[in-house]
Amino acid sequence: MLRSQATRLIANSRAIGAKRTFSLATSSFNRQFTKPLISTRGLKQINFGGTVETVYERGDWPREKLLNYFKDDTFALIGYGSQGYGQGLNLRDNGLNVVIGVRKDGASWKAALEDGWIPGENLFTVEEAIKKGTYVMNLLSDAAQSETWSTIKPLLNKNQTLYFSHGFSPVFSDLTHVEPPKDLDVILVAPKGSGRTVRSLFKEGRGINSSYAVWNDVTGKAHEKSQALAVAIGSGYVYQTTFEKEVNSDLYGERGCLMGGIHGMFLAQYEVLRENGHSPSEAFNETVEEATQSLYPLIGKYGMDYMYDACSTTARRGALDWYPVFKDALKPVFEDLYASTKNGNETKRSLEFNSQPDYREKLESELETIRNMEIWRVGKEVRKLRPENK
Ligand SMILES: NC(=O)c1ccc[n+]([C@@H]2O[C@H](COP(=O)([O-])OP(=O)(O)OC[C@H]3O[C@@H](n4cnc5c(N)ncnc54)[C@H](OP(=O)(O)O)[C@@H]3O)[C@@H](O)[C@H]2O)c1
Repeated sequence: MLRSQATRLIANSRAIGAKRTFSLATSSFNRQFTKPLISTRGLKQINFGGTVETVYERGDWPREKLLNYFKDDTFALIGYGSQGYGQGLNLRDNGLNVVIGVRKDGASWKAALEDGWIPGENLFTVEEAIKKGTYVMNLLSDAAQSETWSTIKPLLNKNQTLYFSHGFSPVFSDLTHVEPPKDLDVILVAPKGSGRTVRSLFKEGRGINSSYAVWNDVTGKAHEKSQALAVAIGSGYVYQTTFEKEVNSDLYGERGCLMGGIHGMFLAQYEVLRENGHSPSEAFNETVEEATQSLYPLIGKYGMDYMYDACSTTARRGALDWYPVFKDALKPVFEDLYASTKNGNETKRSLEFNSQPDYREKLESELETIRNMEIWRVGKEVRKLRPENK
């Protein structure tokens, strides 16, 4: 056995051992909802591949400190979609005072009732909730933030802090018309994942990574407030950004490697295999199943080099030769995408589409097209064949 392989095996068994220990802590957390705020890595200055950045963690805001810091505050969460659900329940489980503001009897109102929010106690209309909040957390969909701004803005006062989870509305104010008042603190905490994951990781005793940014710092405490609130909503570690950088990187990433880019790459590879006579089962397994079930989790857990190392010498040689070819072919596409994000085209398109009264039906019809593609119909059958799904 090579020395490097032996070292890796030891490192892995340590990682697996660490995971086991963590699971035990997790079950105790599920009962108490207190453990994550006590865990700490203790480091604030991290050298990220040669660039030193300051990060904030749960250890910087232990539970008692958080409760004390926010003891006089009420968090008015406006909107109870993906992020409203995740952030709202995490704040509530952390012992903070939260009220939800949504359209009466809409889908979110019903979802909030199911999650135990009580009308008249901590579930209100948008207007009522804003009046009760010292923090107004605008977690409406981005299109809805623009549509409702003319009614929300007059309800805000200088003693409140206005919070977003995306830079979209204020950064592209020429398109959204969301111009935050200048006399109050305006902050952002953007979890790097869906609200469902914000919640599920928190319940497991883990945490989603988030960025934070400050738009207005009237009180001189906007940075501190953002860092504390990021921990309170269940973040793992938090890094600083600006509203502009957050929105550009976020729109770019989801159109690229996170969703659009990876979908396009799966389709291209699958189609070429099918055009060359490969069966659907073979084309799907070589494109998606092996990626999601075997290789991508290795990248997530231990890194890209580990994934290469775990594969055959034949696979390694080929991948090492071909990744620069893909990078060179795709870089111009990413450059176009970044430009389209930065110049507001992506925002314009999103606002125009998502503000249409029938946007849900139109979206559903596009998702139906995806659902009916051969590749994803094959995927459905392949998933059923997994032994754990039998
Ligand atoms: N989802 C993510 O993965 C994610 C990740 C990071 C940051 N963010 C950001 O977090 C914010 C919230 O996103 P989200 O994905 O949680 O939103 P979402 O799931 O689309 O939630 C939509 C919410 O907006 C309400 N709403 C829609 N139109 C409305 C209107 N005209 N008037 C009043 N309420 C209206 C909905 O209420 P009804 O049920 O009554 O329609 C619902 O409560 C956005 O800024 C987003 O960019 C999202």
